[in-house]
Amino acid sequence: MISMDKTGGRQPVNIPTMKPLFHIGLALLGWQLAVPPLTAQAGTPENGFIPENPAALQPIASHHTPAYRAAKAFKRGVNLGDYLEAPAQYFGKGVTVSADEIAQIKREGFDHVRVPIGWHQYAGPAPDYTLSPEIYGRVDFIVTNALRDGLAVMINIHHFNRLDKDPAGGTEEFLKIWRQIAAHYKNFPKKLAFELDNEPHDNATTDLMNPIYARAIAEIRETNPKRTIFVEPGDWGGIGELKHLTLPPDNNVIVSVHCYEPFHFTHQGAGWTTADVKQTGIIFPGPPAQPLVPDDNADLKPWVREWIENYNTLPTAQNPSSPLAFTDKLKYVHAWSEYYGRPVHLGEFGAYIKADPQSRANFYKAFREAAEKEKLGWCIWDWSANFRYWDPKIGQPMPGMRAALFGK
Ligand code: BGC
Repeated sequence: MISMDKTGGRQPVNIPTMKPLFHIGLALLGWQLAVPPLTAQAGTPENGFIPENPAALQPIASHHTPAYRAAKAFKRGVNLGDYLEAPAQYFGKGVTVSADEIAQIKREGFDHVRVPIGWHQYAGPAPDYTLSPEIYGRVDFIVTNALRDGLAVMINIHHFNRLDKDPAGGTEEFLKIWRQIAAHYKNFPKKLAFELDNEPHDNATTDLMNPIYARAIAEIRETNPKRTIFVEPGDWGGIGELKHLTLPPDNNVIVSVHCYEPFHFTHQGAGWTTADVKQTGIIFPGPPAQPLVPDDNADLKPWVREWIENYNTLPTAQNPSSPLAFTDKLKYVHAWSEYYGRPVHLGEFGAYIKADPQSRANFYKAFREAAEKEKLGWCIWDWSANFRYWDPKIGQPMPGMRAALFGK
């Protein structure tokens, strides 16, 4: 299994640097800071929820919008990770996805797939940025098979680092790529949705992305007046960024956030992040039966050692490697969603394959249950890559995963 963006340094674009910092920041602070349990009716602050978004984000009073109707088709999803977002020259050399696997995704119980796509890797030069037929063919294969099997599909632009580095400079290309995608799929069924940009980060702050998103939505609406559009806030789709989001008064937009808490558990041993997650052997939930002895070769920062100390000693209800790491965050997401009348989707959560199988299954189950408790649609990272649900070698789910997600 080749994973372009995780191993061997073969991915020319640089994956998370801020992402771990963000997650670690939350790990340090967030799991101890209780976000009050919150629910609210659209436009009515209740139970302590404090609406903080700019006034430009007006609450939508009705929950009978196209976005809420569409969200019903995006409840239990899986990301086809490390597949079409890889640079063109790696296509087919790492993760592959067959028509049989798409049918299997549906049989497992998923209702949608999120398809990360590196469209920009297949774009010609300025000023047209013409997309190659190759990429349409690859995406069409997934989209048509998935729709035929009754799955909803979300296609996005993934790892568009030019936009992250220079949002103003990348806007024209971003809009022209969306104009072409929108034209190509304008007659596709409504269960196909567009997600504008995966995990804006770096210079692509929420504040800078807000007007760029508004322009992209307007561009897409020219050809796709009824298409559901997903939008992610900055800081890697960070929950903490929801409060900076502004959206046009379009009632077919779903907001999507990502959450990889507890990061020391979910990303343990992940080579594409920083050394801060070098420590492996972390279980979920903590504490471990035998204290974990920090690895001296991992050069762990003092606050990572402190995290491990808490992990070793605190009971599960207070342990940093437990549902405590995400429960209140998901409650906040629910309250935000209710208040602003915008459905929110959890576009990515998951645990890297280096965690032990039982802990992974425990984690996916706990996170999935917490998301469902907050009535949030979820989409695991990923199908058959480094956070995999499915083991393509044996044609079976990874141990415990089917029960974790579908209780069977
Ligand atoms: C990235 C993947 C990464 C995953 C977990 C995704 O957004 O596209 O490359 O493995 O996050 O960090």
